Amino acid sequence: MPARPASRGRDIHEMRSEDMDGARDNLARFLCEWLVGSKPYQKKYGPISIPGIHQHLDIGVSERFAWLKCLCLALEEQPYSNDFRDCLVQQLAIPAERIRMVCQSAIQKMIKRTRKTGSGASRTG
Ligand code: HEM
Repeated sequence: MPARPASRGRDIHEMRSEDMDGARDNLARFLCEWLVGSKPYQKKYGPISIPGIHQHLDIGVSERFAWLKCLCLALEEQPYSNDFRDCLVQQLAIPAERIRMVCQSAIQKMIKRTRKTGSGASRTG
């Protein structure tokens, strides 16, 4: 997405890997699939789990908000009706929230594992 709105969290553009063209192509393929029902993403990569491909990232409320704000700004640049824009944002807010939940749950699990093994214990003295 082209826009970089300010967010309270980290800049979500910094979370991505180096290959921005590849990520753009993958997101475009996925959104075509999601909107139209053809399978350009699956043809290239096979089945996809949207929460699964994000679970290595630390996505919380502010990152989800920043992503949705980028989406709104990108949609403003397109000649779509307001109804269609609103519908897209509302529908994509659902997987965005699911991603947030999965990422936060992965982080909680990691914290618990670290506590059990003691490898994350703070040093004393
Ligand atoms: C909740 C807010 C979200 C954030 C902060 C976020 C962030 C990211 C980042 C940083 C990447 C690149 C990962 C990398 O380069 O390793 C990515 C990839 C991607 N995201 Fe998201 N994302 C969000 C929501 C969504 C939603 C709602 C969808 C679709 C419903 C989506 C679909 C994708 C796809 C298809 C890719 C490309 C995966 C690939 O390279 O094969 N994302 N996302």
